[in-house]
This record gives sequence, structure tokens and C-alpha cells, in this order.
Amino acid sequence: MFNIQQTKAGARERRVAGPETHPSTGKKLAHPSPRGPLIFADTATIKDIEPLYRAGIISGVTTNPSLVKKAGAKSWADAESIMKELIKLVAPNPVLLELLDLTDEAMIKQAQEFAGWGDNVVIKVPVGGYQAVDPSYDPFTGLKVIHALWERDITCCATLVFNSTQALWAANAGACFVAPFIGRLADYAYSNDHVERAAGNSLYWLEDHRNAKGDQCVSNTEYVACGGARKDIGPRLIQEISAIFTNYDIRTQILAASFRHFVQLSECLLAGADVLTVPANLLQQVADHPLTTAGMATFFEDSKAFEK
Ligand code: E4P
Repeated sequence: MFNIQQTKAGARERRVAGPETHPSTGKKLAHPSPRGPLIFADTATIKDIEPLYRAGIISGVTTNPSLVKKAGAKSWADAESIMKELIKLVAPNPVLLELLDLTDEAMIKQAQEFAGWGDNVVIKVPVGGYQAVDPSYDPFTGLKVIHALWERDITCCATLVFNSTQALWAANAGACFVAPFIGRLADYAYSNDHVERAAGNSLYWLEDHRNAKGDQCVSNTEYVACGGARKDIGPRLIQEISAIFTNYDIRTQILAASFRHFVQLSECLLAGADVLTVPANLLQQVADHPLTTAGMATFFEDSKAFEK
């Protein structure tokens, strides 16, 4: 079971306070959770976002090319219009847009274009993996772009993060957010486990690396990979990043992503995530609980005894 006791209380200190004035009225807010973790909707589908935004559940949106396609984009013009609508809908709260270009010069240019669409745009930059697209690509492309965007005062998020060193490299390069994909990490741990070793250990068994190829080369610290149940591997990664960032007073926000189950939301918050980006269906599920529903049904029935 994920151990709450290990949570670093100090992680709280790094958190950035929420907005002090109401986004539309400008009214001063005395919000009860000004330094609370932020919840973003992990979708580009406007009709899913609107009710969540109006209910004050979410204060930002993350997208990626798959989510923009799912929202109905069949051409660049569609994609641009969806992204621009999202920016307008949640302004001044952040909308994270992922770069589509793959070489540093083109990526910087595209980031400048996206950033020009609104002050609330945050650029998502894949931290690595460029050689999977073309072996001749520079493996440091993502980090170089993050650094260049930081120099140009463009806020960015390093995406596709799976270990704490990737998170640190990205933070040092200048990323304001890092996005560990906790669901994909757990998926990997489940599908690559070796029963003769401790749970999740195929992510750690360094001896394997001598002969490993491709995604078999995945590794993490023993704490993340073998520190307990496979299902908790994501929160353990969040906890490790949070502890490192707290140790070194790194202000980069940990944006936990790729959720598969709503229990992971609480686990990542306990582990020290600053932001959770959650698919709309999970956000809808957690607004309810079977006992809340049963309690409401009883209160409604009993209130009929003294109806006005
Ligand atoms: C968020 O920024 C990511 O794009 C997203 O959470 C990925 O989730 P998936 O693993 O469900 O695709």
C-alpha cells in the first residue's frame, strides 16, 4: 500500500499560490485553498470542459495531439480552431498545447506561434524520444527547446517524463512544469513484470540493460520500481520527484498525468503532486460516491415530510 507517512510536508512550500483576483470580475478572492493543488482537465473536448470549469473543479486544460484528434480535428485548421477556443474558454487559466514539430528551430518557432495565441498558453515539449522518430535527431532536442523557451520567457511543460532524472534535467533546463505519466508507467510495470523478482522490478533490474533493447531498457530507482505494489509505482515516482525538488528548492510544478483510476488522484496528491491533469470521465466520477448518492436519496425522501 502507498505509504502516506513518506510524504514530504515541505513540498507544500514550493507550491505557487492560485490567482488572487477573480478571472472575470477582478474581485479580490479570499479563497479557502489559495495554495491548493490545481486540477486540470486532460481533454480538448469543449463540451466536457465547460461544466467542469463552471463548477470550479478545474483551473486549466492539457492537450496533446491524440486529444485534439479525439476532439474532432481532421485538419490543421480544425486543430488550430479547437486550441484557440480552449484558450479563450479558460483564460486566464493555463491551456497546455503540445508542439508538433520535431527539430529545435521549428519547435521554437511553433512555440512562439502558439504562445502568441494567448497569455495563458503553456507549451508542452516532449522531454526526449526524438530518435524514435528519426535516429539522426539530436536526443537533447527537447531539453534544448525547453531551455530556449525559458530564455524567451515562454512557459513550458516537459512531457513524457518517466523518471526523476528526466524531471530534474527538464527543471534545470527551465521547464515550469514536468509531467510524469503515472498511468503509462503502471501499464508498463504490469506488462513487463517478472514473477521471480519483486513487483515492478523489470524497471530496475540493471543487469538486464546489457542485453536490453528499446523499451526493455526502461529503468528507475529501486524506490520507484521495487518499493511496493506495481499499482503504486506512479505515486512513488511523484514522491521521488517531489522529494528531490523540495531538497533543492526547485519551483518547477509536478503535473501528474495519464490517470487510469480515480484512486490514483488522491495517491498523487499525498505524494506531493502540484497539479493533476485528469480525463473528464474521471473528474465526473469523483464528484460522486455511492454513499453520497444514497444519502441524497434519503434526505430527499425525508424532506417530503415538511415540504413548503
Ligand atoms: C497529459 O498531459 C498527457 O497528455 C496525458 O495525461 C496522457 O495520458 P494517456 O497515457 O492516458 O494517454
